Amino acid sequence: MAKAKSSVFFCQECGYESAKWMGQCPACHAWNTFVEEKLEKTTQAVKKLVKDVNVTTLDAIKMQEGQRIKTEISELDRVLGGGIVKGSLVLVGGDPGIGKSTLLLQCCRNLSEQKKKVLYISGEESLQQIKIRAKRIGEFGDSLFLLCETNLDIIQEVIKKEKPEIVVIDSIQTMYSESVTSAPGSVSQVREATGTLMQIAKGMEISIFIVGHVTKEGVVAGPRVLEHMVDTVLYFEGDRHASYRILRGVKNRFGSTNEIGVFEMREDGLHEVENPSEYMLSGKPKDASGSVVACSMEGTRPILVEVQALVCHSNFGIPRRTAAGTDFNRVNLLMAVLEKRLGLQMSACDAYINIAGGIKMNEPAIDLGIVLALVSSYKEVPIDEKTICFGEVGLSGEVRAVSVAEQRILEAKRLGFTRCILPKVSLQALKSIDGIHLDGVENVQDAIQCICNGN
Ligand SMILES: Nc1ncnc2c1ncn2[C@@H]1O[C@H](COP(=O)(O)OP(=O)(O)OP(=O)(O)O)[C@@H](O)[C@H]1O
Ligand SMILES: [Mg+2]
Repeated sequence: MAKAKSSVFFCQECGYESAKWMGQCPACHAWNTFVEEKLEKTTQAVKKLVKDVNVTTLDAIKMQEGQRIKTEISELDRVLGGGIVKGSLVLVGGDPGIGKSTLLLQCCRNLSEQKKKVLYISGEESLQQIKIRAKRIGEFGDSLFLLCETNLDIIQEVIKKEKPEIVVIDSIQTMYSESVTSAPGSVSQVREATGTLMQIAKGMEISIFIVGHVTKEGVVAGPRVLEHMVDTVLYFEGDRHASYRILRGVKNRFGSTNEIGVFEMREDGLHEVENPSEYMLSGKPKDASGSVVACSMEGTRPILVEVQALVCHSNFGIPRRTAAGTDFNRVNLLMAVLEKRLGLQMSACDAYINIAGGIKMNEPAIDLGIVLALVSSYKEVPIDEKTICFGEVGLSGEVRAVSVAEQRILEAKRLGFTRCILPKVSLQALKSIDGIHLDGVENVQDAIQCICNGN
């Protein structure tokens, strides 16, 4: 085996590899992010190895029963696509203190109650500190094992010896391998550690959860390649000042993405929120202008949210605009549509848009909600509180069809809404639904007529 020592430079933002130092990364354009890391490459005599490798056909692969393990936290199971897949590597990212360790410890508790052997490896907290959290959460079974360790080579040996079914690594940024000389948390350490865990997961059929820290931009710290290496990427997000948390699947090799799970952080741990719409709409003001309920699909679930707008005369040459919980540029675009197509003097107004509850919504179906909230605030016309709306708004002011209209309407009906403003095209494709008045609109003018006449 020949060994070749070399040193390479990695961009700490995106993982771009370069033979020499550069001021700006050509991949992500970040400045001054290149750090030198020493690599020890081993070149192997591959020809000898090839003799032991066999190819196979799909038919020859035997499926085992019970490939998925239920965590008994239904919101987590849903985001995972129906449970933990055996031998999968799941990355859980999130802001500091959002509750990643709490969620995974609760998951471990449920699994240990099912007599699954679980190993929780912490590189951040001592055993006593884990015990404090565990006390907060509740009773644990006796098949949960804890280990405080950051050396990956030792961890690998422990896993081989103990043969657990599920392993939790908290967090990947604290793990280091002695074969890599750079500091824990650096690009090559994180990549090496994930690669090793990947081999353990696939080779020994162990499901592994990895906790990953996020940078201030909100992506998992370390290279982007980390997301490519793992099977599933979950982000745990939430408003710092609100008690609820959202678990979002952004990549899933074994299930649908964009699925969300909603939790509430309480003193005794995370609780599932089974009715997110009810939760999001609590505290909605009555008879206030600039407030409307819109419906967005999050994965397979429709979620109703209150869209709030405040439009007021601007005292400056350049009006102020902010958008909390939705895309700022989209709001600007919709305001331009209102100005051009309806002649509303939006350019002289400050506008603030907020999706109440702090949830982030980026589905185009909430466009109509944003438009109606803006117009309602501009004209000081309150919208009937039992009205909901959804629809994508195009640049010529047309209201375009959205997917799964029926499911959205049924959810609105279930929550006691009596009127729904939706795209005309979607209405024509629907079977009749009793108990809720449906208004199909072709363009924003029609939609505004609906709210003005309704009051
Ligand atoms: N007694 C308590 N009552 C209510 N909430 C609590 C209590 N103790 C902790 N918390 C919540 O739990 C959060 C910490 O959870 P946890 O340690 O799981 O976060 P984490 O994402 O693992 O953080 P880190 O990134 O530091 O590892 C706190 O920010 C707080 O919101
Ligand atoms: Mg933690």
